[in-house]
Amino acid sequence: MRVSRAWIPVVTLAIIFAVVGCERSSPLTPAKEAATAPDAKPKKTYQDLIVGYAQLGAESEWRSANTVSVKEAAEALGVELKFSDAQQKQENQIKAIHSLIAQRVDVIGVAPLTETGWDEVFTEAKAAGIPIILVDRRAAVPPDLYATLMGSDFLEEGRKAARIMADLTNGQASIVELVGTIDSAPANDRYKGFREVLQSYPDMKIIDSRSGDFTVAQGKEVMEGFLKKHGKTITAVYAHNDDMALGAIKAIEAYGLRPGVDIKIVSVDAARGAFEAMIAGKLNATVECNPLLGPRFLELALKVANGETVPKWVPSEEGVFFPDNAKEILPTRKY
Ligand code: AHR
Repeated sequence: MRVSRAWIPVVTLAIIFAVVGCERSSPLTPAKEAATAPDAKPKKTYQDLIVGYAQLGAESEWRSANTVSVKEAAEALGVELKFSDAQQKQENQIKAIHSLIAQRVDVIGVAPLTETGWDEVFTEAKAAGIPIILVDRRAAVPPDLYATLMGSDFLEEGRKAARIMADLTNGQASIVELVGTIDSAPANDRYKGFREVLQSYPDMKIIDSRSGDFTVAQGKEVMEGFLKKHGKTITAVYAHNDDMALGAIKAIEAYGLRPGVDIKIVSVDAARGAFEAMIAGKLNATVECNPLLGPRFLELALKVANGETVPKWVPSEEGVFFPDNAKEILPTRKY
């Protein structure tokens, strides 16, 4: 068919409109889609996740179990883990977080040594777009500076310890308290929770209270000091963790008294050492605080790295343990 020259511009325009119009109204081609989709970042998997973990130290059986849990979970899931141990010094932990920010990891897990002093470094992580997950311990920072907190209800642990102590002593006791690391969330809350319950027991008195920094050695040393000062007036020990209770047991024996009998002892963690002490009749109860947080930490890290919403607090479920069935339970304990 021949088209007259006069029709050529009209036909050309019609073809152009048809092509442009068609492109506008047709679904986007895959190439166009990739270029214009607002959130085109592919989802991360465990295998391409890089996670930092700024551990505070290795002060207790609990802490060692926590470290093992995080390392084993990373290994099992194929997550690249950059682990550091601050050896109980906040400045080391802050340095470690700076280094993780510089390495541009996807997520940083922190077990904060103390509650205070984190605003600046967490703000730097936020500015770099790296989410912080608080593992085990709280930090006193505005909520926008961390993605989630996972761990125990330390306040409730303190309350549980006080209720058990009230039962053991029929509501009459002269208690010495071995406090954890000063300014740490567990020490602050276990201190408060215990006193909250004691308000209902006027004949239970805390006659002395000092930090043993969550270690066996300092628990022993502080207990020696208590015994020197108060002697047989002491009828009960409340230790903020099992390690300090084990230290106190040594001091009480060296003083010539029977731990668990002459002096009732309640501690927190439910680590294997506490079960052994209960079996030996030297510890009266332990309140559980679960350190096996590794798998859940990495599950949350993956979600956070992929921009998914997570709860602001993921609490652990925990029980209490007594000597009567400690022997049967010990083989089932993983820490
Ligand atoms: O933050 C948890 C506490 O820290 C544990 O109770 C104690 O043993 C550890 O050192």
